[in-house]
Amino acid sequence: MVLCDKGLFTLHTNNTTYQMKLGACGVLLHTYYGPRVEDCDLSYLIRYADRGFSPTPEEAGRDRTFSLDVVPQEYSACGMGDFRLPSLDLELPNGSRSADLRYKSFRVEKGKYALEGLPAFRGEEGETLIVVLEDAAAGVDVELYYGVLENYDVITRAVRLVNRGGHTVRVRQAASLCLDFQRGDLDLITFDGKHVLERRPNRAPLLPGVRSAGSVRGNSSHQHNPFVILCEHDAGEDHGLCYGAALLYSGNFQAAAERSQFENVRLTLGIHPWHFCWTLAPGESFTAPEAALCCSGQGFAALSHRLHRAIRERLIRDPWAGQPRPVLINNWEATEFSFDAERLARIAESAAAMGMELFVMDDGWFGARNSDEAGLGDWTVNREKLPGGLEALVPRIQALGMKFGLWIEPEMVSEDSELYRAHPDWAFQIPGRGKVRGRQQLALDFSRREVRDHVYGALKKVLSSADVSYVKWDVNRSLAAVWSAALPPERQGEVYHRCVLGLYEMLEQMRRDFPHMLIEGCAGGGGRFDAGMLYYTPQIWCSDNTDAIDRLRIQYGTSFCYPVCTMGAHVSAVPNAQTGRSVPVETRGIAAMHGTFGCELDPSQVTPEEREIIRRQTEFFKERQALIFQGDYYRLSDPFQNGPFTAWEHVSPDRREALVSVVCGPAQGAPPFLALRLKGLDPGLRYQAGGEGSYPGSALMEAGLPLPLPWGDYQARQFYLTAL
Ligand code: DGJ
Repeated sequence: MVLCDKGLFTLHTNNTTYQMKLGACGVLLHTYYGPRVEDCDLSYLIRYADRGFSPTPEEAGRDRTFSLDVVPQEYSACGMGDFRLPSLDLELPNGSRSADLRYKSFRVEKGKYALEGLPAFRGEEGETLIVVLEDAAAGVDVELYYGVLENYDVITRAVRLVNRGGHTVRVRQAASLCLDFQRGDLDLITFDGKHVLERRPNRAPLLPGVRSAGSVRGNSSHQHNPFVILCEHDAGEDHGLCYGAALLYSGNFQAAAERSQFENVRLTLGIHPWHFCWTLAPGESFTAPEAALCCSGQGFAALSHRLHRAIRERLIRDPWAGQPRPVLINNWEATEFSFDAERLARIAESAAAMGMELFVMDDGWFGARNSDEAGLGDWTVNREKLPGGLEALVPRIQALGMKFGLWIEPEMVSEDSELYRAHPDWAFQIPGRGKVRGRQQLALDFSRREVRDHVYGALKKVLSSADVSYVKWDVNRSLAAVWSAALPPERQGEVYHRCVLGLYEMLEQMRRDFPHMLIEGCAGGGGRFDAGMLYYTPQIWCSDNTDAIDRLRIQYGTSFCYPVCTMGAHVSAVPNAQTGRSVPVETRGIAAMHGTFGCELDPSQVTPEEREIIRRQTEFFKERQALIFQGDYYRLSDPFQNGPFTAWEHVSPDRREALVSVVCGPAQGAPPFLALRLKGLDPGLRYQAGGEGSYPGSALMEAGLPLPLPWGDYQARQFYLTAL
């Protein structure tokens, strides 16, 4: 609900309230964001005093108490007396670097706004508030967009800059989100890691100064995720105030939180200002990507439930929103580059017998791609490996009752490829400097339309040559040596962002041309796991690390923002290719059910008993997929605490059904008797816990479910609970 009353703008969702108010000197002040409160003017929280070394704007006259350096603002500027984190930084023709924003107007629109060329939450039933600020000297209007997803407790934000003046302005920074808090005692949680160990939550109280996480790698990155949480020091899974902020963007980003001198906190989130500079000529506009805000007064579980539901129902698009996904088998870990049609068909045959629904042919099917040294960019079927092409292979797979999927890596090129030999200038390289290789490949300049058109044309031909139901869209290096031969020097600061726009455009084109095809995102595993990609790719390969025990941590960290149905997760062979660890197949299956569940091994290399276990797991997963994907997800333990087990739970919306998964750590002598306290059940109902007996919901939540003693390393168990 959007309420606008004499300069007071209040946004209500079912459980939260967000408010801003037109303040002195025409500055738009931020008054409140938090659990829902009755309608009132919350600007009484903003107090004024003469603060030394905090300057005042000219309009304040002799009033020394109104300083931009002190008051909470809706969207911060820079260079004009606010020394805290900027949201907007403009370079004017005279070389000055500053921004100074004053309220201009507002309007309310029905339905939630969409952004052209950029991902955004949908919300036909929602409302949009647009508040326009103005930088008069720059001639730039700053339109602040607020989307209110009332039933999801999510408020989205986006910013559109419009040059209404007579001269060209260079935008050095335009954050998507600025959120001021009138308190300093908050923790920041960032989700950090590396290739094969992504999204570890790192929590620390904010100290005076700035703490930031971001990416300058061209992708949102394995190293830091464009999602952060701010929370009270004692907030936990089930209690305490917390705020989540996610950027719907897959390129360079910066999340920064500053605890300032007067015990205030400012959070900004948006495109990373490093190497960003957008030329805005008169009449032109620039749109900063969408950010989503969510708040919970009851801890992280409720925060995650709200975000999960919004992502599942309002970000992921048809035909995949709320729909089942196929259980797939992927040949990568089984074969890497050495396969031919016969080997693939054998894998598919056994996979079909195990109940798998989709066969995915990974890297190595095109050009001269026999290793990662060659072939990227040549998107034609390798006839030595697949003599009859897809036209012959796909019907063979379909005859097994399976669908067919294909791996691609459109944004990249190998130097040893026809494409590179024909168009070396299509790959990033700074003139006069050496090439920068990653996995022995170069990145294509996706800011260029002719490059995208060429790649997409070739891919479309392949995808149209057979019945392809799924695509795994991979990218296997970070961008470096970024310079576009197609743009003048003063526009080189646009290249990274134009690449992301180019990526989104091609993904959208593919969705349009192949509306029923499922696209799974991937970036060497989880290097581009962000809410922006989820708009185009409803699931993302969570990590190249398929070790079930490492996956518990990776998936745990991922779950704070992203729902289980978005996490690509597979049962792979042991010893694991990344860690050398061997874990029972039951455990590998249970870990993969914390995601889309699939297989990544050669079934002929595992024992008949293991194949039978995987077959049963596949059957079990298909039956419970709706519960796992649509149910409320609870983290029952923190795998980073090295406790005796890691546990999680899915509870159906009507609370009559639950699935509890428990994975134990390494074996120990004389293990203790443990009981696991469950969450989210109906205390008044009695639940049958498989063959383990039946218990009241209240007992399961307050006293716990007794866990059997483990015998051996990394044992796992699932308990399927139904209300009696
Ligand atoms: C990285 C992916 O994450 C893997 O699953 C696999 O597709 C390889 N790339 C193929 O090169």
